[in-house]
Amino acid sequence: MINNLSLIQSICDLKRKKNAIILSHYYQNNSIQEIADYVGDSLALARLASQTNADVIILCGVHFMAETAKILSPKKRVFIPDINARCSLADSCPLSEFKEFIKQYPYHLIVSYINTSVEIKVLTDIVVTSGNACKIIESFPKNVKLIFAPDRNLGNYINSITGRDMIIWNGACHVHEQFSLEKILNLKQKYPNALVLAHPECKSAILKIADYIASTAGLLNYVSQSKRNKFIVATESGILHKMKMINPDKFFIPAPPNDSTCACNECSFMRLNTLEKLHNCLKYEEPEIIIDRETIKKAAEPINKMLKLSDKLGL
Ligand code: 13P
Ligand code: SF4
Repeated sequence: MINNLSLIQSICDLKRKKNAIILSHYYQNNSIQEIADYVGDSLALARLASQTNADVIILCGVHFMAETAKILSPKKRVFIPDINARCSLADSCPLSEFKEFIKQYPYHLIVSYINTSVEIKVLTDIVVTSGNACKIIESFPKNVKLIFAPDRNLGNYINSITGRDMIIWNGACHVHEQFSLEKILNLKQKYPNALVLAHPECKSAILKIADYIASTAGLLNYVSQSKRNKFIVATESGILHKMKMINPDKFFIPAPPNDSTCACNECSFMRLNTLEKLHNCLKYEEPEIIIDRETIKKAAEPINKMLKLSDKLGL
């Protein structure tokens, strides 16, 4: 067992030796965020993976994020510290059931949230993230019929903002479904000047009382710009680390889950990644993300479509 300081030193040495880059999502624990070369939301991580000159990418996040990095950088080796760091939302859309579902709507375009497996992406016309979904969907002609998968909360939110009636797959994230409306309302009473910030994966009852709704990067950006100094944050609590770091004089309250006996506002999958596993992953070069060439080619199309359209729309 080596201590954190030697672990950090060893990670930095290995990174240099192997020309590796460490990309972290905002939901990773603090020590991983601090050692990462970049910390970002799903959109930023996809962009960074497609642009890096590194030979090796260590994706500290969940499985679909590492898959996306591999799809966008097929010549690079991509690793994830813990192969069991999956995503309950992506897993709520199994391939065989989704294939049956889309058969009912042969004339609909398939829009998938980036939180999906590579197999679902292969069936997809365009991928979106929480950072660009509304604007991308607004850019489609109104007569184009759409299926949206897998998040029912995000799908309903997009419908409400864009006035569309997308057919929505019935999936959800186990963290964002857990926030307690009652406890958030109690906090609002206790701190009347606090603003409620929510990720669009939250249930509609939470989104209705939110003062601002956005992706993780969008929420971070909002608190940094805001003149207000108290925020109740309804998304995975890892984001509070960056919020506090950038805004040390502001006050952040993690929105509480229904069950107060668990740390349900932490993503149990994201938190499987640790500094030690990150170190081992760099040292032993496993677990690696392996996807066959044909699948990569097909899955890259809807992701690249998103990246191009996002650039064009200035997102
Ligand atoms: P962002 O794209 O906003 O980072 O969200 C990813 C995610 O998994 C939210 O639960
Ligand atoms: Fe997936 Fe939810 Fe974890 Fe985000 S918070 S990675 S949607 S399980």
